[in-house]
This record gives sequence, C-alpha cells and structure tokens, in this order.
Amino acid sequence: MRKRVFSGIQPTGQLHLGVYYGAMKNWVRLQDTYDCIYCIVDQHAQTVEYDPTVLQQRTLEAACLYIASGLDPQKCILFVQSHVKEHTELTWYLSTIASLGQLERMTQFKDKTEQHGSSNLALLAYPVLMAADILLYKAAAVPVGEDQSQHLELTRDLAQRFNHRFGQVFVEPETLLTRGKRIIGLDNQGKMSKSKPEHTSIAMVDPPDVVWAKLRPAVTDPARKRRTDPGDPNKCPIGLLHFAASSQQDIDWVIKGCTTAEIGCIDCKKQLAVNIEAEMGPIRERYSELCARPDEVWAVLKDGADRARAVATSVIDEVRDVMGIKSPV
Ligand code: TYM
Repeated sequence: MRKRVFSGIQPTGQLHLGVYYGAMKNWVRLQDTYDCIYCIVDQHAQTVEYDPTVLQQRTLEAACLYIASGLDPQKCILFVQSHVKEHTELTWYLSTIASLGQLERMTQFKDKTEQHGSSNLALLAYPVLMAADILLYKAAAVPVGEDQSQHLELTRDLAQRFNHRFGQVFVEPETLLTRGKRIIGLDNQGKMSKSKPEHTSIAMVDPPDVVWAKLRPAVTDPARKRRTDPGDPNKCPIGLLHFAASSQQDIDWVIKGCTTAEIGCIDCKKQLAVNIEAEMGPIRERYSELCARPDEVWAVLKDGADRARAVATSVIDEVRDVMGIKSPV
C-alpha cells in the first residue's frame, strides 16, 4: 500500500510563489509515488474577516491553479474541505484533548491576533481543524512550507495524546519540506505572505510585466550597498527565489556572482524573471483555460469530495467507536 500524503491551502488572497515553491510544486512531484489528498481549506479562510461572495470565487480559482500546476485528478484526490463534514466533526473530538495553553502559544495565533487587533474562537481552534484535516486521512506525510511546522508538531501531539487516551487510531504524520520552504517577501521583511501588501509578493498568475515591475525595485541583501560590494544570496529574497526556481547551473552562477560581486542585483533579477516565466507561463495559460470552464472544475471537486468522504467516514466511525459515541441504529 502506498503511503498517504495530505496537504491544503487556504483560498485567501492571491496564491503566490511562496505557496508554489514551498508546497504546491512538491505536491505535483509526490502524486506519482504517494496516495495524495489535496484540499482547498475554505473553512480555515473563515477564521479572519472575509467576504463571503469572494470566498467561493477564490475556492474555484485555487482549484484551477491546483490543476493548472499539474495536479491530476486521476492520480490524486482534489476537494474542498467544507464538502466533507467529518473535518469539523473530528475538530470537535480533538478539541476535547487540545491544551488551551498550547493553542495560545501558536505563533500564527499570536501574529494574527496582533494583526487584526482582535481574536475569535475559530482562530484559536485553527490548528485543531488543521490537525483534524490530516488525522482524518491517517496521512503519513504532510508537504508544507516551514511556517506550518509548529502546527504539524501540534498535530503529532494530538495524535499521540488521543492514541494514549483512547487507543491506537491515528498516525503521527511527518513534515515534508523543500528547498523553497521559506520564500521571503520582496521587501526582505519576513516570509512572502497573502496578507502582506501586494507589491511584496509575486502571484502565480502575475504576467511577466507585473513580475518585473515587482522584482526591479525589490530589496536585496543590505550588504550590497554598491555594485562592487559582495553579498549573500541566503540573505536576499531574490537569491532564495533562485534556489527554489532556477536550475543548478543558474544557482551556481548566482552564488559565485553575488558573493564575489561579479554580477549586479539587476542581472540576478533579470535571470530570475526569465526563469519564473518559463515555469509559470504555461501554468498561467492552463489556469485561464480552466477558469473559463467552472462547471468542469466544480465536478472534479465533487468527485474528489466523494472519494475523500469514503476514507473520512470510515476513520470517523473508528473515532466515534473508541470515544464512546454511538452511531444511530
Ligand atoms: P497557507 O494557505 O498559508 O499556505 C499554503 C502552503 O504554502 C506554504 N507557504 C509558504 N512556503 C514557503 N514560503 C512562503 N513564503 C510560504 N507561504 C506559504 C505554507 O507553508 C503551506 O504549506 N494552515 C495552512 C493550510 C492547511 C493545511 C492543512 C496544510 C490547513 N489544513 C492540513 C497542510 C495540512 C495554511 O494556512 O497554509
């Protein structure tokens, strides 16, 4: 039996290159060797202020991007979280063993509470819903970016605690990271993020002129004040994007050229723009074709939800059974 992989993306804002190189590109690679389930986690997107009319559109667009990036519904399951109600049911069961202190210490909870100036129960419970997403399918591995590592630790804790208290049901999932695990925003101030100003991230669907308009003024390693100052590509959003997006030959060129000041930041940015377009151009094209056929995409998601539900219901039956919840007779 193939090992199971589960992962998801929130349909909030524009999906950017951090999401692509941190997670999605790895998902495509994994679908040939694992039993993969990929979700659009629309209920996670409800934990902060959102516009209901936009959420549905974003969900569809995310699905189009999944398929356009190379996820094949014949090889993996693609579905929307809210279409499989067992996710929220399992969240409740897991919340009975989740520690309030641990949830309050989650970096993302603290950051978002600060950013929005307020909080709600769903934002606090967010990592429990995420644990439910993963444990519901007994996934052995979860491909994500580095910012999700703390949530994955909590997922393993919950699986352990549950198994200890009620008997062996859940698998403790491992975290799968890539070399694009932490793509930095173009202002060089922390990770590229959907909730930061648009000019600091490159959307997967940005056309070449928009990509260049964002890359050209992007902040680089502060050590390179003059063209002749050597830099460190590890301290530069452009360098880190090259590591994720470029060929080994180009990466060697960047490392040598930047650390010896043989190349300038503009040369480095120009080559990055070319490499991004080579990869994202065809994805963008397939994406607009798919957006023009929404019914077909919703049908793929319905079929995916049916297949996901078949797994989810059997695991939830096991959970109910060991927790003393009697199913109706
Ligand atoms: P989300 O929607 O914020 O991001 C989706 C995926 O992209 C990765 N990512 C990044 N990787 C590298 N550099 C970046 N700048 C960057 N920005 C985003 C994220 O790590 C993630 O893998 N809580 C999750 C969604 C989720 C989930 C799950 C993931 C819900 N349930 C179950 C895995 C399994 C989130 O908000 O990701």
